[in-house]
Amino acid sequence: MNPTPAFDMVLFGGTGDLVMRKLLPALYQAHAAGSLNNNGRVLALGRKDWSREQYLAFVEEHARVHIKEYFDVGQWQHFCERIDYYRLDASDAAGYPGLAEKLAGHPQRVVVCYLATAPDLFAGICENLAAVGLNDKHVRVVLEKPLGHDLASSNAINDAVAKHFAEDQLYRIDHYLGKESVQNLLAIRFGNSLFEPLWRREWVRDVQITIAEDLGVESRGDFYDGTGALRDMVQNHLLQLLCFVAMEPPASLDADAIRDEKLKVVKSLRPFTPDDVLNKTVRGQYKSGAVGGRPVKGYLEEDHIPAGSRTETFVAIKAEIDNWRWAGVPFFLRTGKRLQERVAEIVINFRDVPHKLVPGPSGLPANQLVIRLQPEESIRLHFMAKAPGDSLVLQPTYLNLDFHEMSRSRRADAYERLLLDVIRGSLALFMRRDELVEAWRWVEPILDTWETATTPPKQYTAGSWGPAASSALLSRNGVAWHEES
Ligand code: BG6
Repeated sequence: MNPTPAFDMVLFGGTGDLVMRKLLPALYQAHAAGSLNNNGRVLALGRKDWSREQYLAFVEEHARVHIKEYFDVGQWQHFCERIDYYRLDASDAAGYPGLAEKLAGHPQRVVVCYLATAPDLFAGICENLAAVGLNDKHVRVVLEKPLGHDLASSNAINDAVAKHFAEDQLYRIDHYLGKESVQNLLAIRFGNSLFEPLWRREWVRDVQITIAEDLGVESRGDFYDGTGALRDMVQNHLLQLLCFVAMEPPASLDADAIRDEKLKVVKSLRPFTPDDVLNKTVRGQYKSGAVGGRPVKGYLEEDHIPAGSRTETFVAIKAEIDNWRWAGVPFFLRTGKRLQERVAEIVINFRDVPHKLVPGPSGLPANQLVIRLQPEESIRLHFMAKAPGDSLVLQPTYLNLDFHEMSRSRRADAYERLLLDVIRGSLALFMRRDELVEAWRWVEPILDTWETATTPPKQYTAGSWGPAASSALLSRNGVAWHEES
């Protein structure tokens, strides 16, 4: 691919965790792959009174370790030449004229302001940028999640930002959309004639979307306890995956064509009544257990978690889409920390044959499409075939597409792809405001009901697949989670 246009990448929160763990490593990979314009600079902002050299020493210690693959010392040194540091307190307007001066002299250059800060700073930063003229059409703003805490706070941030930036300057990032496999989902759905006729209520029994993590809250206890799994994972990542599975074919690959279709899906999600929340959702919290043979603490024993916290670390939901394609097909969504393994997958369970002519195992869906997003990227189509031997009996088998085996070529990491998209001005993989509004509207009744519930989240042992109620949610619908079937 051709290198990007010339750019300045301005990193607010430049000494923070996201910049060190994800953004600088992703920019390095893009640099090493030759995707960045030679006139591309990275300007990290932070409150510390550091020189460029001090910042680079910090980067050397904290960012370089996160580059696991394709590290080359020469390339790294070359990449570091792009980086500069500027001391700025993002909430203090006084520092912004200096920032504008630092960026001056290149009126045609794309300026990306990546707000890797707490969301309560977003409004002030945008106002301060605009006050020094850093909001013309060359400036793009990347907003990290969580964008708000609920619909009202998300609207307040979006309103404040919209005073200074047009919608097409705003890149609301959801890193799941940058994953290669999510793009592959689009390729598979709309690049083959095989699946489309079956991709509907007549042929699909249920859909299961899981993002399971084996890690706990790690060092993010403070943030996580005020957030919880519903806001951290469901409102964004899981709903976005659901949209890509369920949406109608877009008219084109234009950003708005895709986002229009996703919006229709979120708008068609059946709203939850308080009774639905009791019957169709499960919230859990991990207690101590063992993951990968290693004993681990329970959530309440983790650092910075207040005693008696009711924050959920696990969510399972039965979602329903009220439209012609999907009416009656349950979409089961599930995510959790400290589960048995790290896996993200989408499972499409097809309906059984109308009449079982050939004997075979019962209870299993005959046909299943399993799209694995991580740890490895693969697509597996399960079907029935004759068991070897002299009698005609079915046995389950599958066709497997392992993308790593098929091509060893390097895959861009999610942040790398999305950062390149911002510099190139492609909005297709970023959330539009109306999508976000609808996503909040859908999760809010769940949040509200949980908040006032008298019962705490159900406990589950770290290293399991979540509370028993999660299995019961599916069995009440006559099905079972993929790993249980
Ligand atoms: C982030 C969440 O958005 O996604 C984290 O804030 C979570 O809590 C992470 O661990 C998972 O992303 P991935 O790409 O590692 O599956």
